[in-house]
Amino acid sequence: MWPRPDWPTRLLAWFAREGRELPWRENRSAYTTWVSEVMLQQTRVEAVRPYYAAWLHRFPTPAAVAAADESDILHAWQGLGYYRRAQHLQRAMQEVVARYDGCIPSSREALAALPGVGPYMLGAIRSLAFGAPEPAVDGNVLRVFARLYGIEDDVLQPATRRRVTALAQEVIPHDAPGAFNEALMDLGALICTPRTPHCADCPLQVDCGARRSGRETVLPVRKKKTKQVTERVAVAVIAHAGRYLLHRRSETGMLAKMWEFPAVTGRTHAAALAGLCAARGLTTPHGVYWRHRHVFTHRIWEMRAYRWEMEAALQEDECWYTRDELLTIPLAGPHAKLAATLA
Ligand code: ADE
Repeated sequence: MWPRPDWPTRLLAWFAREGRELPWRENRSAYTTWVSEVMLQQTRVEAVRPYYAAWLHRFPTPAAVAAADESDILHAWQGLGYYRRAQHLQRAMQEVVARYDGCIPSSREALAALPGVGPYMLGAIRSLAFGAPEPAVDGNVLRVFARLYGIEDDVLQPATRRRVTALAQEVIPHDAPGAFNEALMDLGALICTPRTPHCADCPLQVDCGARRSGRETVLPVRKKKTKQVTERVAVAVIAHAGRYLLHRRSETGMLAKMWEFPAVTGRTHAAALAGLCAARGLTTPHGVYWRHRHVFTHRIWEMRAYRWEMEAALQEDECWYTRDELLTIPLAGPHAKLAATLA
């Protein structure tokens, strides 16, 4: 029978030898766990490292997050993407301060009621920070379980996630739930990798259903999601007297409340540029100042920026900023790259 029921013991022994030394694994608290797990949900470990350190320096406690201006929160998150995570984190810490005296609660019910806490966050915080025997199933864990148990169902389906969660719940060692969850993450990141898993180095190679049937590169099954749409975006860098004209995005939707250079989307670059010029009464520019392709989850922006030197009238939600000020406001990711090119 595979996997052999004592596979968690072999996984934990491997983790003790090979587990990664990561900053959020030192001096863990419920707060540091929360911050790192939110950051890590949709972002790679290496990308998270500098943000994690900077965040804790700037916001060392739940109270510091709760009291901060939202624009400082978004600025600290700038470049990590999925900004709603940061807004949820702040709202959660505001509730922690208001209802729990700044001390993150440990019960399932209390945690699950806080903003941004879904099943993954709940399991991660409860197991890593409080030692509760609860699984934390993310993409890595789905992949490891799909291979280990030879699960042929689409791992993007909620029913498959529930099945994996139930399996993990059955086998999670009650004396080391946090280590077990992080061992699965590390196995998924270091050995049981998406395309070419390193089975020869795997502590579970004898246990693995996919390996036994030669299906380790076929599993997990992931049925295609809807395709990304590509949009052409014309961007206006309007400069006047050492300041640049910036627009604040609306309160809701993608990149909510973040600042950007005025931009218009179109089906073609020519259409986007024509729309931009018409919207702001701009003359046709001489050439393209900057080109950039930015890939979001469901959307790709093919961006072209153009420059104008003029004193344009401000429209709603717009402001002039110096280059130095641009570095202190929350800029939508690709627009921060554009701002960095300005001399
Ligand atoms: N991904 C999500 N949580 C993680 C953690 N605690 N360590 C490493 N990678 C992770």
